[in-house]
Amino acid sequence: MRKAVCPGSFDPVTNGHLDVFTRASDLADEVVVAVLINKKKSSLFTVEERIEMLRDVVAPLGNVTVDAFHGLLVNYCTDNGITAIIKGLRAISDFDYELQMAQMNYRLTKVETIFISTNPLYSYISSSLLKEVGTYGGSIEGLVPDVVHGRFVEALKSQR
Ligand code: PNS
Repeated sequence: MRKAVCPGSFDPVTNGHLDVFTRASDLADEVVVAVLINKKKSSLFTVEERIEMLRDVVAPLGNVTVDAFHGLLVNYCTDNGITAIIKGLRAISDFDYELQMAQMNYRLTKVETIFISTNPLYSYISSSLLKEVGTYGGSIEGLVPDVVHGRFVEALKSQR
């Protein structure tokens, strides 16, 4: 496989995401982690902050870069020579929507979607759940990369 994309909101990146990037980097020659710019959705971190944290986190992975996109993912793929979308599947609850998107994306431009079964260590986490737990003082230690942890705690504090 040549160039693949791992798309998402990454608000912020979690250890579950990092596990998917690491495994994707073994499957594809080149991987782009692409942050969706969605002005309609409120977020804890700006797109620039999310990109900065992602760049720190993927720095040890030699064939992984970080970018942002808006609009349709398939158009980003076509414009950037990307032939596969790689995503983590956590549980059956992810499956319906992910399958729907994969089928629509294939119909639109024949881009393939490859699902990686997430590491069971992280299969119950999502950025939204971590934000909820962190907001009320629960520990998120070990669930986000070290470079994200301090920033995450500070951002949640300043939201209170
Ligand atoms: O981390 P998320 O928010 O679950 O990621 C969802 C994402 C960004 C992968 C998905 O919403 C997406 O691909 N959005 C881009 C717009 C698009 O292409 N929509 C049509 C999907 S069939």
